[in-house]
Amino acid sequence: MNPDDPRCIWEDVPAGDLSLRVLRPPSAEDLIDEDEFADDERLPYWAEVWPSGRVLCGLLAQMDLSGRTVIELGAGIGTGAMVAAMRGATALSTDWYPQAVEFSRWNAENLGLDMQAEVVDWREPPALITDRAPWDLVIGADILYEARNGTALGVLIPRLCGPHTEVIIADPRRPDAKPFVQAMHDAGWAYVRDDLPVPGRIDEQGPIVHVHRFRPPAKNINGPVIV
Ligand SMILES: C[S@@+](CC[C@H](N)C(=O)[O-])C[C@H]1O[C@@H](n2cnc3c(N)ncnc32)[C@H](O)[C@@H]1O
Repeated sequence: MNPDDPRCIWEDVPAGDLSLRVLRPPSAEDLIDEDEFADDERLPYWAEVWPSGRVLCGLLAQMDLSGRTVIELGAGIGTGAMVAAMRGATALSTDWYPQAVEFSRWNAENLGLDMQAEVVDWREPPALITDRAPWDLVIGADILYEARNGTALGVLIPRLCGPHTEVIIADPRRPDAKPFVQAMHDAGWAYVRDDLPVPGRIDEQGPIVHVHRFRPPAKNINGPVIV
């Protein structure tokens, strides 16, 4: 599905005092492609704005990112990178689905944002992201939902970082996030966690999204973190 498809729907994503109106496919489920799944167990999760993605947007909206470089990993349609761009960052939205990147570019242009979007698979990162390292801020939302994701991100994220990089990952308490966080901690990364509610949603369990914030270790910043 592409942004010209009349079945696409508009969604308002609250992000602090910013307004973010994005176009997306009506349902991720309808986009499931059995060949893609058979090939790489790939599912079109990109087509929705997930609760963690909303939390990340709310958080970024509170930051002044003027002059900072920001890369969003597993961005889906790129709402995090869009808010970062609205807050003054030079932002790059990335995802392994070309369709996600197409929607990301379309939405950024529609919002009048100067934001880039590129196809990036964490397991084979292109030079266009490693050559631009160190990034000031590396962000992601709901990207630790499978064990293989943590394994790939443990290798990739250090390669994107320098001594002053901050890494922010919003996660809806996925079980597979735990080994990743533990491995980063064991590798000497400074770590803080905030527990935040999803904007506009009342949840009986209280805070539901974990916001993991990491800072690189003093030594071996770019060394792989084995998850
Ligand atoms: C649950 S969705 C979250 C989307 C968006 N961040 C949000 O919170 O709304 C996970 C995203 O990670 C992407 N993804 C999964 N594995 C990936 C990989 N190996 N390389 C790049 N992107 C990947 C998916 O395509 C999807 O867009």
